[in-house]
Amino acid sequence: MKILITGATGLIGSELVNLLLEKKHTVHFLTTSKSKIVNQPNFQGFYWNPQEGKIDERCLHEVDVIVHLAGATIAKRWTKAYKQEIIESRTLSSELLFNLVKKVPNQVKQVVTASGTAIYPESFSKIYDENTIDSEDSFLSNVVKKWEESVDTFNTLGIQVCKLRTGIVFSNKGGALPEMVAPVKLGFGAALGSGKQVQSWIHLSDLVAMYYFVIEHKLEGIYNAVSPQPVSNKQLTQTIAKTLKKSLWLPNIPEFVMKLSLGEMSYLLFSSKKLSSKKIEDAGFQFQFPNVEVAIGNLY
Ligand SMILES: NC(=O)c1ccc[n+]([C@@H]2O[C@H](COP(=O)([O-])OP(=O)(O)OC[C@H]3O[C@@H](n4cnc5c(N)ncnc54)[C@H](OP(=O)(O)O)[C@@H]3O)[C@@H](O)[C@H]2O)c1
Repeated sequence: MKILITGATGLIGSELVNLLLEKKHTVHFLTTSKSKIVNQPNFQGFYWNPQEGKIDERCLHEVDVIVHLAGATIAKRWTKAYKQEIIESRTLSSELLFNLVKKVPNQVKQVVTASGTAIYPESFSKIYDENTIDSEDSFLSNVVKKWEESVDTFNTLGIQVCKLRTGIVFSNKGGALPEMVAPVKLGFGAALGSGKQVQSWIHLSDLVAMYYFVIEHKLEGIYNAVSPQPVSNKQLTQTIAKTLKKSLWLPNIPEFVMKLSLGEMSYLLFSSKKLSSKKIEDAGFQFQFPNVEVAIGNLY
């Protein structure tokens, strides 16, 4: 199979590329950095610039599946201009891909996109699944809505669309976990706010395996890409400390302190999302790291 990936140079994309190449598939990828382009028989890069509407049309040659991961990081101060970039890096890129697929003869049958959990309502106890209609009215929730809508357009071309609403990805190579581990390592770890906020997370290996699973099984629709055992911020902080054999002695860090330093972005630390992974498990997917102690232990 030939798979075209956007955002292939990022945390999730680079692991997915490794898995697909290991399984003997051919990978095309789109990058906004010409310096990241490589040209190997089974792994070929192409330039695009969604802001300027530029895309190398050869990227689509003999492609069966598109995986859309590209998007400006949300872990950077949310100024007005940067908020616009967070949205447009996802929607303009989807539109550019859509227009290309519409214009050029091709054999694309499925589009799989990353999506977020911010769309779900805040919850400490209620578990939300993919049928949830209620949604939150926050900046990030609106990003997710616009992002999903921009990819749903592929349905009008008779192409299957699969959306993976992804929780906090656990890796030791990047993302949120190393930021949580660093203060604990230095002996300054502490839970945030009440520590009761629920964090729905997934080990990077499980997430990449899930991308492979939905491609292999030609799945469409929404799937929560979260482990079966979400944890509170307090439990997570304690698990990190236990794994690193460090003690937690500081009081919890109050929410207003983080708001002062991070602004609106502090949402990422204090929002509470308790999500179900039942739908993907019912489809036959098996998690390698369902439990937070095992996941953190594997990474650190
Ligand atoms: N990591 C998580 O915890 C998490 C959780 C939920 C959802 N997600 C979503 O999953 C996707 C992949 O996540 P990731 O952690 O792998 O992200 P990442 O490491 O930040 O990589 C994202 C990739 O997107 C491309 N990109 C960045 N800014 C762009 C822009 N302005 N326009 C077009 N492309 C741009 C870059 O590729 P080039 O430099 O090659 O162009 C980059 O390598 C993202 O959309 C993210 O929001 C991630």
